[in-house]
Amino acid sequence: MLSKSQARSFFLFATVGFSGVFLWLTVDTVRQVPARSHEENMNASVIRGKEIWEKNNCMGCHTILGEGAYYAPELTKAVERRGEPWLRIFLKDPQAMYPGRRKMVQYNFTEEEITDVIAFLDWIGKIDTNGFPAKPDMAPVAVAAAATVTPAAGAPSAVAAPALFTQVCVACHSLGGTGGVVGPALDGVGTRYDRDGLRAWLDNPQSVKPGTAMPDLNLSASDLDALTDFLMSQR
Ligand code: HEC
Ligand code: HEC
Repeated sequence: MLSKSQARSFFLFATVGFSGVFLWLTVDTVRQVPARSHEENMNASVIRGKEIWEKNNCMGCHTILGEGAYYAPELTKAVERRGEPWLRIFLKDPQAMYPGRRKMVQYNFTEEEITDVIAFLDWIGKIDTNGFPAKPDMAPVAVAAAATVTPAAGAPSAVAAPALFTQVCVACHSLGGTGGVVGPALDGVGTRYDRDGLRAWLDNPQSVKPGTAMPDLNLSASDLDALTDFLMSQR
């Protein structure tokens, strides 16, 4: 049983001691913020991206770092998950990546604004948050960028998959069993098309098949060539 004065010193010792520990941990955390957030990478583009993010109230639907609304996907790791090419196409025209089921706002961003939004999301994604928040449960319709796409056994491909293929096309198409289910699987696609027909399709799907859900991805001539070479080798 503690005497009154023992109880008082116990109370004082514990209160002062633990307040000290709490203060020290707070100071320590604040001191670590610049390093963990990579403050040095916060350039003008990142800051403009943050302003666009705030002005358009993206947090009214999305969360970053776990904060915001839960209507739309968590975006902390959006750049790592999707890659820049996918995000560019999506932010220019959200409908392109979710044919027929768009809920994301079409903002009519300029190319520069899109660059800034992606720079901001990229910076956010590189903050060391000890793994918080957990990976979002994405709708299965379009899958995240696959690190590698392995053509099915028996369909050896001499041409390596262009980065654009693994970052954009696999969101909707599968190859060798990996990828999305919005469009048809592309195994053996080289036997179904001739080279010119395939290139024309990738260049402008609407002109080949009006009303198709395959988006016009505004591919450059060199991307068209690389993708056509790769697809023609899928036999
Ligand atoms: C009205 C709600 C709403 C607002 C506001 C909104 N979004 Fe979205 N966003 C969505 C929905 C819903 C999706 C899921 C795809 C779909 O259904 O179109 C999405 C998807 C995304 C994705 C793709 C995520 C992924 O990995 O698939 C990105 C990136 C994104 N939004 C960025 C933004 C940015 C940047 C802003 C602000 C400029 C914003 N969003 C504002 C609803 C919204
Ligand atoms: C947003 C989803 C989406 C993306 C992204 C997408 N496609 Fe498609 N693709 C489709 C759909 C849907 C079809 C079926 C169109 C139809 O038959 O009307 C299709 C059809 C095709 C076909 C014809 C397949 C066949 O067997 O007839 C090829 C080839 C193709 N896409 C290649 C690509 C390539 C290469 C990319 C990346 C540069 C790509 N697609 C990106 C949705 C997509």
